[in-house]
Amino acid sequence: MVLKNIGIHTRVLTAAVMLISASTLTLGYLGVNIINQFVTSRFSERINFMTQYLALNSELGILIDERALLKGLAQNMLKENDIAGVIIVDSQDRELVREERQIQGPFQTAGKSVYLSQAQGENMFLDSINDTPGIKKIGRVDVIYSTRGIKDLVNKMKQRFFIIALTLILISCLIFYFISRSLVRPVKSLSKVARKVSMGNHDIRAPQGNTPETIKLADAFNEMLDSIARGRRTIVRAYEKMARQETLAEVGKFSMMIAHEVKNPLAIIKSSLEMMKKELDIPRDNIALTYAEEEIVRLNDLIESFLMFAKPARPSFEITDLNKLIYQVVIGFEIQYDTTRLTITSSIPDTPFFAKADFDLLSRGVANIIKNACEANQGKGEVEILIESKKNKWQLRVGDQGAGIRTEKPDEIFEPFFTTKATGTGLGLAFADQVVKAHGGSITAENRPEGGALFCVTMFAHLTDRQQSGEE
Ligand SMILES: Nc1ncnc2c1ncn2[C@@H]1O[C@H](COP(=O)(O)OP(=O)(O)OP(=O)(O)O)[C@@H](O)[C@H]1O
Ligand SMILES: [Mg+2]
Repeated sequence: MVLKNIGIHTRVLTAAVMLISASTLTLGYLGVNIINQFVTSRFSERINFMTQYLALNSELGILIDERALLKGLAQNMLKENDIAGVIIVDSQDRELVREERQIQGPFQTAGKSVYLSQAQGENMFLDSINDTPGIKKIGRVDVIYSTRGIKDLVNKMKQRFFIIALTLILISCLIFYFISRSLVRPVKSLSKVARKVSMGNHDIRAPQGNTPETIKLADAFNEMLDSIARGRRTIVRAYEKMARQETLAEVGKFSMMIAHEVKNPLAIIKSSLEMMKKELDIPRDNIALTYAEEEIVRLNDLIESFLMFAKPARPSFEITDLNKLIYQVVIGFEIQYDTTRLTITSSIPDTPFFAKADFDLLSRGVANIIKNACEANQGKGEVEILIESKKNKWQLRVGDQGAGIRTEKPDEIFEPFFTTKATGTGLGLAFADQVVKAHGGSITAENRPEGGALFCVTMFAHLTDRQQSGEE
């Protein structure tokens, strides 16, 4: 349970510290011990050798009891490091020479017996030959030496070893720290990113790290986030569409109610006004009555637009010449507008282009686009209407010289009730779009580089069975 709370980083680091420390200390301890033994044995060998050498040289001095000679030898010996004293005794253990000097202990003694030359030469390294017949022991040399130097050397070595071992442990730990951090960091940042995403930040993505494994992990994680984001967008769009459809359904019901409740009284008001005019002999240009009549017409139009959009008539498709349809719509606009101020330039081919269409519905849809162009021009300038057809594709272009489309989202203008006009319903383009789509076509809108907006309506020809099979 407790282990659960210990992170990978800490685990890797602890394991590394323990392993590195254990192996460095064990190896170091063994190394120091071996070196210690080696150095100590070499040291005692050296002292033994020097003692033996002194024993050899002392033979003559002991034989002839020449103390000055022995003293010289002892003094020479004292010049060596670590030698604290030399004692030479004869066979009766009488002290012939004792030379000492003050150095720090602890002390040890190396003693060698002195034999007559013949035996000594043959038994140079034997010390227990006293009782051997024919070999005569004539004295003994004792060399007192200090082991402090060698102990200091070993201690210094131990200290150095510990410093080196600690440095090695520290460096290895640092290396492991950085390696394990670089491995754990991407995992940590993944969990951070996941938490941020769950808190609503859907644009954030995981950093890749710097090893192939972490790069792959981050890529897979980010792909998963991308696909979640895509799914989310689809759901949001579907939800928005559903909400819009619900609103439209509500609007539809509301419009129907208005149609029944308001349209009929309006018609009654309108005919009553006309009757009043006649009966009371009111002049035709009476301002108040004209104003009232105009407002009645406007209200009626508004209700009609609502009705048209909310409960569109089911198109009754017939083989229709689209070019002729546009020609008639344009004529209607030329009659409606003051053509001295607003020029409607149209380029409509003479040859018919047949498609399956509801003449009335499509005329009203296209008229909404041309009406917008004329309104954008504010009743002056030029509105260009151009038709191009290629094979079975037909395209109507309506260009104006107005201020252009000014919305953040280009498709917004096709949304029902979207308007930038004070008295607009925002249903004109929504209706046109609905009608053109019902005819299997599409509408696009853009701003022209030279200014003004350009609307394109694309439709397709009705092909006979023979045309479809490519015989004509
Ligand atoms: N030719 C155009 N130039 C610039 N903006 C346009 C043009 N046509 C449409 N728009 C923009 O699209 C919006 C929606 O047009 P739509 O025809 O649907 O409604 P409306 O014209 O505002 O109202 P109504 O059609 O009821 O008079 C307009 O308010 C306008 O902002
Ligand atoms: Mg409009």
